[in-house]
Amino acid sequence: MQWRRRHCCTHAAKLLYLLSLLGVLVFLVQQVWQPRFPGMPWWRGHPVVYGGGGLHATKAKWNTSASHSVWRLVIVPQPTFKADANISSQEKRGVFPPQADPNFENNLAANTSQSEVGDLSGTITQGPFPYILNEPNKCTENRPAPFLVLLIATEARQVEARNAIRQTWGNESVAPTLGFIRLFLLGKKEGELGLLQQRMLEAESRRHHDIIQQDFLDSYKNLTLKTLMGMNWVALHCPKASYVMKTDSDMFVNTEYLIYKLLKPELRPRMNYFTGNNMRGFAPNRNKNSKWYMPPELYPGEKYPTFCSGTGYVFSGDVARKIYQASLSIRYLHLEDVYVGVCLAKLRIEPTPPPNEFLFNHWRVSYSSCKYSHLITSHGFHPNELLKYWHHLQSNKRSACLNMFKERAGKPHSNRMAGEKAAH
Ligand SMILES: *[C@@H]1O[C@H](CO)[C@@H](O)[C@H](O)[C@H]1NC(C)=O
Ligand SMILES: *[C@@H]1O[C@H](CO)[C@@H](O)[C@H](O)[C@H]1NC(C)=O
Ligand SMILES: *[C@@H]1O[C@H](CO)[C@@H](O)[C@H](O)[C@H]1NC(C)=O
Ligand SMILES: *[C@@H]1O[C@H](CO)[C@@H](O)[C@H](O)[C@H]1NC(C)=O
Ligand SMILES: *[C@@H]1O[C@H](CO)[C@@H](O)[C@H](O)[C@H]1NC(C)=O
Repeated sequence: MQWRRRHCCTHAAKLLYLLSLLGVLVFLVQQVWQPRFPGMPWWRGHPVVYGGGGLHATKAKWNTSASHSVWRLVIVPQPTFKADANISSQEKRGVFPPQADPNFENNLAANTSQSEVGDLSGTITQGPFPYILNEPNKCTENRPAPFLVLLIATEARQVEARNAIRQTWGNESVAPTLGFIRLFLLGKKEGELGLLQQRMLEAESRRHHDIIQQDFLDSYKNLTLKTLMGMNWVALHCPKASYVMKTDSDMFVNTEYLIYKLLKPELRPRMNYFTGNNMRGFAPNRNKNSKWYMPPELYPGEKYPTFCSGTGYVFSGDVARKIYQASLSIRYLHLEDVYVGVCLAKLRIEPTPPPNEFLFNHWRVSYSSCKYSHLITSHGFHPNELLKYWHHLQSNKRSACLNMFKERAGKPHSNRMAGEKAAH
């Protein structure tokens, strides 16, 4: 008996040991072979950390899909938040402020019916801030309606970034026959410098006809206004566009991949479609010093609804109008991507996870032509880098992954992984 028990325990210990070895191996292999996971911790990248402890509530099983992503294995998720389905339970916990303005039925009123969202068939007006610069005919010039409208948040001073985008991923000749519109979104700067910038911006606008601007102060806290201006523009001037992407001016966007591999012009355009880097189960950041601080008075809920990182999200044209209309009855939040998520929750449009997790990156993916020919967004680019990488990618299109394969062939262990990656 004694012997048997001990024997059995030794076996169990051995098994555990082997399992942990295997775990370490899987981890290491991922570290080496995870091309879309640069040496940087994922949370350093960007506004991702809305809530210090607001972890991704993923269904992280020891599944192939979960193992693609190291941090999903490391972080033990607490999926207390069940997507958007039952947000009303938060309301029941009395998390909404008693003094809440009834005009701004607060966030996530999952219990409100569509009709309360605002009359979706109603007339769209330009909203409280008049357009200073507009391109009302940009869309109709383009017959038939464009396949993709790019909305790029930018500030007046970022001239270089706009020029780099015009020459690279925002160049309308990326998809010349499909219809592809690029618009930069701006507010207005104050002061003498603001006036000077405004004059230069107006000249730029006359030259390129790709700038829209409304009369609100261009500030970080007004970013949501900028996004809503974009939604408003599409609803008002380009309602038949098949798809829209909202992104930032420090991004690399592989528009070709986006159009031909993700959206696929040969298919019928989707409706109620929204995708990007899905942020599921994030908690509001309650640290007052954080850039992403969310005052409890403004958003009392414990979790945000699923939203897509503002560094780049894509949606079907119909959604622009719906979001704009929903926003008319939803309290303003300065975090634009969270705000759009709240609008979507109210509209009961669930963001679609992208076909693979490495398409939409809100951090910077270290450059290789192979990786960059298989992703849609990468974050944190200086205009010069954008030009450099874009041109490299264009001139290596046909052989983008050849070097990658050579490297892989040189390492043992990796053949299986290489095969999987190539399949993407
Ligand atoms: C494992 O991943 C596959 C897709 O890769 C998915 O269809 C399946 O539901 C997942 N299983 C679990 C248990 O999450
Ligand atoms: C939503 O929450 C209510 C109570 O808060 C519960 O009765 C209901 O079953 C929940 N629905 C889902 C889909 O979880
Ligand atoms: C939804 O709201 C209505 C009133 O607007 C209320 O009568 C109903 O009980 C609510 N349903 C849930 C599930 O909270
Ligand atoms: C866009 O691309 C075309 C073709 O590659 C090129 O001729 C044109 O100069 C580009 N536009 C800009 C603004 O760089
Ligand atoms: C946002 O813009 C409005 C309109 O210009 C301005 O009154 C307000 O102060 C701005 N808010 C912030 C936080 O910059």
